[in-house]
Amino acid sequence: MKKLDFVSIDDLSNNEILEIFKIADELEDIYEKRTAIDLLRGKIMATLFYEPSTRTRLSFETAMLRLGGQVISAADMAASSSAAKGETIADTAKVVSQYADVIAIRHPRDGSAVVAARHSDVPVINAGDGTHEHPTQTLCDLYTLRRTKGEIKGQTVALFGDLRFGRTIHSLAAALARFGAELILIPGRGLELPEHLLRRLAIKYKQRLHILRGDLEFINEKLKNFDALYIGPREDKQEPLFALDIKVDLSKKVPKWDVVYMTRYQKERLARDQPSRDYPKLDSDFLRRPQLKNAILMHPLPRVDEIPQSIDSDPRSKYFQQVSYGVIVRMALLQFLMTSHRLSLVGFEPIPVKRIYRNTHNVGPRCLNKNCVSSNENEPGLVSEFSIMAREKTYASHLLILECQYCEFECSVSIVGNSKSKKFCQYDPALEKYVEHWLSQEQLILFNDEAEATRHGFTPYKKGPQISLMSAEDISDALEKIANEIADYVPDLGELRLIGLKNRGDIIAQRIASILERRFAVKVPVASLDVLPFRDDVHVTGQTKDTIDFTLDEKTVVLVDDVLFSGRTTNAAMTAVLSGAKHGRPKKVEIAVLIDRGHRQVPVDAMFVGKSLRTLETDRIEVRLRELSSRDEVTMYSLSIEGDFQKGADEATDP
Ligand code: CP
Repeated sequence: MKKLDFVSIDDLSNNEILEIFKIADELEDIYEKRTAIDLLRGKIMATLFYEPSTRTRLSFETAMLRLGGQVISAADMAASSSAAKGETIADTAKVVSQYADVIAIRHPRDGSAVVAARHSDVPVINAGDGTHEHPTQTLCDLYTLRRTKGEIKGQTVALFGDLRFGRTIHSLAAALARFGAELILIPGRGLELPEHLLRRLAIKYKQRLHILRGDLEFINEKLKNFDALYIGPREDKQEPLFALDIKVDLSKKVPKWDVVYMTRYQKERLARDQPSRDYPKLDSDFLRRPQLKNAILMHPLPRVDEIPQSIDSDPRSKYFQQVSYGVIVRMALLQFLMTSHRLSLVGFEPIPVKRIYRNTHNVGPRCLNKNCVSSNENEPGLVSEFSIMAREKTYASHLLILECQYCEFECSVSIVGNSKSKKFCQYDPALEKYVEHWLSQEQLILFNDEAEATRHGFTPYKKGPQISLMSAEDISDALEKIANEIADYVPDLGELRLIGLKNRGDIIAQRIASILERRFAVKVPVASLDVLPFRDDVHVTGQTKDTIDFTLDEKTVVLVDDVLFSGRTTNAAMTAVLSGAKHGRPKKVEIAVLIDRGHRQVPVDAMFVGKSLRTLETDRIEVRLRELSSRDEVTMYSLSIEGDFQKGADEATDP
């Protein structure tokens, strides 16, 4: 049987977690009677703690002893083990797995449990890795929630405090989302949930997030009423995926809060001691709010001063109950990992990691998280590993998005190369199949920039000659033609509405409107639309922004863009215009484009086309408009990359 590690909350399916809870229920009697059972007799657990702990280590050890097993423990690994001599996590895990049947490890580096699991022959349990995850705490939290409230699904859980560095929060938020709880995130100032975790919630678990931000006064004001929630993450940190306006959504009432989950300010995670201003604190005043009458108050502990002792006796305070359940939950986890076969993953299907890039080259992307185990000089030999998540963000920026396989932080690269042909080019979504192919052939090499590629002897894929496709005059003629065709098509121009797709379609729409005004003395309303939030390959939360400030009801709407290629952008625009009857029900929706270059991926067609072109997928079309650059011009060039795909890199030639 393949060993089952528990380094991330996502290593267990919902059904497996529920199975563990069932085992915990059955073991409660043993714990209550302070006795032991011989379920794991003869088995040994090693607890390797490189960081202080009271609850996790001692409850694990209690759990193993009550199951009839034995424990070998290193409470201060950093000082008292060979780690002090420079032994790596990998070697330590390999060695200790020769002694023990299961390892629980706590380490200050994000992703350290992944390393231990990869090198251990026995199951590894993550007892907290840096700021990354604390999945066994989450099991205790979920179990407490379920025991107290009956079920997890549908509960409204407010997560308070240090959402940035609090690893308990990172595991818990994911698990709550998976079980269908409603999340409200209330970070201390500057302690917001990291972007990659917001993305995990939004993309992987399709969570809509309610985020309250602001100083304590502001938060308190909102908490008084429970009628205004910020929806969508803050703009400044989350470009471009979360480039949404924060809006107060007064229509969204939160009927009740079931759980208030408070966390400690993780000051040991900061490089310098940066006191957090306005760190949320819960006190009896707070708990007097009528909306919290039936809420429970949880905390992973230890606490500092965010929850005063005076409310410990409040029946809603459940943090010591969490501690108590910690033993039976860890008993159940040990029993499950060491004896159970995996259950089928019903209820939660982890998204399969499709494409892993192992950076075995001495160049290119490294994890940006300074606390990641892969950035740790004490762990030599660790290869940076990323899953490639190109489809999620590339539309906006033409960057390849990478997720660290150790700590889940994200980074991006813009240059892709082929290690055999020693050629490189700028990444573009049109190159998806090449990236895929090169990766499968272990020929993909990623660079941070062109200079790095050049320094390592790579040369650019040959660009074909830059061909001028349309001059300023051609563009002007094409727009006149489109305007004429629209005027023929829409007998009553009073009912025409133009919607330009950002960033060039809206300029072209304005120009078409000017032509119509000049020729027919009709002022056609024009709006611009950012389709990013409506694309099928981008997931966003919260409210979306468009500038359509007129009704489309019973109007003929023409969506205007510069280049029609896959059709996905235009399709997204149609979704924006037609979904939810937000702007009324248009009589017709048509499409106008300056250039139609083919290669459609969805059944979309343009009624009004300035110029039709036959292009290769890898051809690059550049539309320059005087409003954005110095002149009007459309150019095209080809990238000679086909050889590396069709013939194999050895035969790669530039045609
Ligand atoms: N909750 C928790 O992890 O506590 P310890 O740090 O004491 O293990």
